[in-house]
Amino acid sequence: MTENSSASAPVDPTTTAAWAALNSLRDGLEPDLRGWFAADPGRAERLTLEAGDLTVDLSKNLVTDDVLARLVELARDVDVPGRYDAMLRGDHINVTEDRAVLHTALRRPDGAEPELVVDGQHVDDDVHEVLGRVYEFADKVRSGEWTGVTGKRVETVVNIGIGGSDLGPVMVYEALKPYVQPGLEARFVSNIDPSDVYEKTADLDPETTLFIVASKTFGTLETLTNARLARQWLWERLVANGAIEDTDEARTAAVGKHFVAVSTALDKVAAFGIDPANAFGFWDWVGGRYSVDSAIGTSVAIAVGPDAFEEFLAGFHAIDEHVRTTPLEQNVPVLMGLLNVWYTNFLDAHTHAVLPYAQYLHRFPAYLQQLTMESNGKSVRWDGTPVVTETGEVFWGEPGTNGQHAFYQLIHQGTRLIPADFIAVANPARPLKDGTGDGGAVAAGADVHALFLANFFAQTKALAFGKTADEVRAEGTPEAIVPARVFSGNRPTTSILAPALTPSVVGQLIALYEHITFVEGTVWGIDSFDQWGVELGKKLALEIAPAVEGDAAALEAQDPSTQALIAKYLELRES
Ligand code: F6P
Repeated sequence: MTENSSASAPVDPTTTAAWAALNSLRDGLEPDLRGWFAADPGRAERLTLEAGDLTVDLSKNLVTDDVLARLVELARDVDVPGRYDAMLRGDHINVTEDRAVLHTALRRPDGAEPELVVDGQHVDDDVHEVLGRVYEFADKVRSGEWTGVTGKRVETVVNIGIGGSDLGPVMVYEALKPYVQPGLEARFVSNIDPSDVYEKTADLDPETTLFIVASKTFGTLETLTNARLARQWLWERLVANGAIEDTDEARTAAVGKHFVAVSTALDKVAAFGIDPANAFGFWDWVGGRYSVDSAIGTSVAIAVGPDAFEEFLAGFHAIDEHVRTTPLEQNVPVLMGLLNVWYTNFLDAHTHAVLPYAQYLHRFPAYLQQLTMESNGKSVRWDGTPVVTETGEVFWGEPGTNGQHAFYQLIHQGTRLIPADFIAVANPARPLKDGTGDGGAVAAGADVHALFLANFFAQTKALAFGKTADEVRAEGTPEAIVPARVFSGNRPTTSILAPALTPSVVGQLIALYEHITFVEGTVWGIDSFDQWGVELGKKLALEIAPAVEGDAAALEAQDPSTQALIAKYLELRES
């Protein structure tokens, strides 16, 4: 991708010639996907690209070739290639935290050349040393060599983490369910609402449960509170079952066999009572929301095994390489990022739907919410100056077809422009036939996944091409309700099709969106790798906690609204 060197100050994208050209193209734009396809038989083929195993059809987007060319020019003007190279080589592009951004190093193959040395650290060696330890541990748990304190093998792994220390592992675990070793299960506790840890542990056998405390900082209130609750649960249940003595030594031994940790703060792990030998490290150059391919993925590595985890990492790397080596004009994450800029900054879209037609990807939209919105929900640029454009779309979504029966109405016929990514796989993990069919449209023996994907194809077609009033009338619709049954079309979608939901494809999908996020952040001139916006609420929660416990002085110190709410809570609280 190398074209220029990385710029230290953000380019104001609105001052570029490309931006001005895009403005006038927008002013003259008359979206007409029906007409564009009719006039240009090569449109679908030309705008369908490959990245790794992903086939990505961009042709149903509201762009002409001119718009795409100008968007690519914009990417050059703001030096997306230079900044990508700066990221790969370990420049401190996370300027507000003065850190390198090296999640791409987490998936470099062992022995990759040239060796990556950043700030004196032999990054490749360290990454593979930790991976080796994670795999060794995962193998021990999977084989039953690692046992709980009473000698029983692990049946349930409970990951305790939040944000990037939860959303990635849980999303990937759900996506790769068909690869999970029989007899092993993973659960995920994140919320400090105690009902979360309660529900996730209530039916577990403490003798066969392993907790992974996953926290980059090992200072996150939710995670440490849940870890303490889990430790308490373990001790109480083991003692109650007569599995261990009620002594400090027995409790320490139990933690040693039932708790491991993943963190960059190994001193704090030790202070919690977890043996450093059972802790897997990573580094401050891995952002929380970019960390599922680090030791943060230990729960996944245990569940699906080291071989599948290696394939998962290889999937990320395939997309990293695609970004690095593919010209901007064919570079899928670059083009998808630029399309998001087009919709956000030129066509006034505020949100972006991600709609997986794969039930195993049901947590993917939630995962993307942190990746995209914690990264690009910023109002200042990396040099501290205010942004000059809108930034950060609201990402959201649900798997199809469920969403079709919920919110698609608004996407099809509402007043807002909602670009949507549709994701599907050709080969399902669970191919089922409908033995009897319905005696009508669904034939006996029908392939249910094919029926499912018919919906995937139908939705993007309906959104793109709509249905005219004349077409509605031709169906014999009474004139009075013709307007309600018209579909305007010209609702933009990108279709992503993969062969199957393999570990590699899951890695590819994550990397795709990581790079889309990066491209948008670069155009907007923002540091996509800090997250100062989450700090104030955290600090205030700690300050407010005494008031919520009934401390009068702390209550007095609150603003009138907060005071009244807390007072009402105290009145309602039963004990
Ligand atoms: O509050 C936001 C955040 O810092 C995320 O960026 C991070 O993924 C999450 O909290 C959890 O942090 P940690 O892994 O340090 O517990």
